[in-house]
Amino acid sequence: MNKEKIVVIDFGGQYNQLVARRVRECHVYCEIYSYKTDLAQIRAMNPKGIILTGGPDSCYAKGAASCKKELFEMGIPVLGLCYGAQLMMHVLGGCVCKAPVREYGKIEVTVDKTSSLFSNVSEKTICWMSHNDYIEEKAPGFRVTAHTMDCPIAAAEWKEKGLFAIQFHPEVLHTQEGFQMLHNFVYQVCGCLGEWKMDAFTETSIKAIREKVGSGKVLCALSGGVDSSVAAVMLSKAVGGQLTCVFVDHGLLRKNEGDEVEAVFGPSGPYDLNFVRVNAQERFYSRLKGVEEPEEKRKIIGEEFIRVFEEEAKKIGAVDFLVQGTIYPDVVESGLGGESAVIKSHHNVGGLPDYVDFKEIIEPLRDLFKDEVRQVGLELGIPEKLVFRQPFPGPGLGIRIVGEVTGEKVAMVQEADAIYREEIAKAGLDKTIGQYFAALTNMRSVGVMGDERTYDYAVALRAVNTVDFMTAEVAEIPFAVLARVMNRVINEVKGINRVFYDLTSKPPGTIEFE
Ligand code: XMP
Repeated sequence: MNKEKIVVIDFGGQYNQLVARRVRECHVYCEIYSYKTDLAQIRAMNPKGIILTGGPDSCYAKGAASCKKELFEMGIPVLGLCYGAQLMMHVLGGCVCKAPVREYGKIEVTVDKTSSLFSNVSEKTICWMSHNDYIEEKAPGFRVTAHTMDCPIAAAEWKEKGLFAIQFHPEVLHTQEGFQMLHNFVYQVCGCLGEWKMDAFTETSIKAIREKVGSGKVLCALSGGVDSSVAAVMLSKAVGGQLTCVFVDHGLLRKNEGDEVEAVFGPSGPYDLNFVRVNAQERFYSRLKGVEEPEEKRKIIGEEFIRVFEEEAKKIGAVDFLVQGTIYPDVVESGLGGESAVIKSHHNVGGLPDYVDFKEIIEPLRDLFKDEVRQVGLELGIPEKLVFRQPFPGPGLGIRIVGEVTGEKVAMVQEADAIYREEIAKAGLDKTIGQYFAALTNMRSVGVMGDERTYDYAVALRAVNTVDFMTAEVAEIPFAVLARVMNRVINEVKGINRVFYDLTSKPPGTIEFE
């Protein structure tokens, strides 16, 4: 496995992970490495091809991210994108300088269809441009294969050497035929076979885990989220009853969520594993009593979680392996190169338990992007509802209740949130919105119900669309749907007499309230 590999060299561009994901979508495995990575290390990986990403620098500036000329002389095909394209030209003797006209956005590009990079691509095609510099003069040996109104060298290649440079970004969806271009690079230029398939990955991984674990004992902290669920099922398929999953119900989950997790992973569910549910609600509520500051709440929830988990682990005794649901973006974001030993606690707020007695960590999803984890989940037969769950923060409703958390407030926000989610699903919007939930504001206001005065809490509905969760836009939910939710929440949830819809984008807001 993993014989066929493309290496993505990162120059700090915002789309580096996207480049890797698109290559994986072509069924070719690829990994991201920093531009500082030693050439010998890259050569030793024997990649079928190399892709240089975009980046914020000007390649001719002092101290700019760069690469050695030898990178282009290894006999391995190289595709440079945006900054990567400019760098290729710069290093090989072309001229890159500030462009007379800056290009930004969707631009029509005219391509030379005889280039293998552009086969099955329209002659005039819309591409995403974002550059201040441009290639004024190509490097010797290259021929120009695309141009725009303002950019005479939008692509160039030296076919015999396997070197390709494109000024635009084929990895973003705004480049309408970008996927075809990347597909052409990995198949036609690099000669990949497309061996990276999730069914094969799943099968091979299960076998490898089985061999590694032998007759050992395995412990897994299960949150019910996508990553830990997929990791747990993989382990269950590999070693069955040697696996114990500990599920800590901290009382800050959505309505019925604890029972739903138990229904899937507990003794009446389909998986062969030992399931331990710890109902620690009261412990968490009492630690959170009187605490209002968001980071303080996060810290308490994280610490308490680790403590509960450790206590359960002690009851189980020494184990050989601890399972972590780390995924590839965690590895990349914590320092490029994939070598750093990152360990993301499934809860990702408290870190790794100190006192759990184990010999080794197993991270079965360490090489996968989120959408690949979901595909593995489907391969493993995990219910779709669980596989396509929207993100839910580790501290749960603790950060969706502004101010002090109490059992009563949790119950209120759970009910309101359940109604909101039900109505969103009924309106057929559940698959189109990135993340949506109800949060309890700390505001009480006067209302009237029947003939009685009320003085109750206000709930805020939030719904955002986002690509990367770093920025987000408010989702436009039809007014009639919002009105129905408002009606139901006020009629059905005791303690709430007002409903707001949060219009704030991120930035300046965040997605969560705390
Ligand atoms: P914000 O609120 O920072 O959220 O815009 C961005 C994404 O991160 C999730 N989030 C968290 N996830 N622990 C988590 O596991 C946390 O403490 C936490 N805070 C925010 C949030 O749900 C959104 O998807």
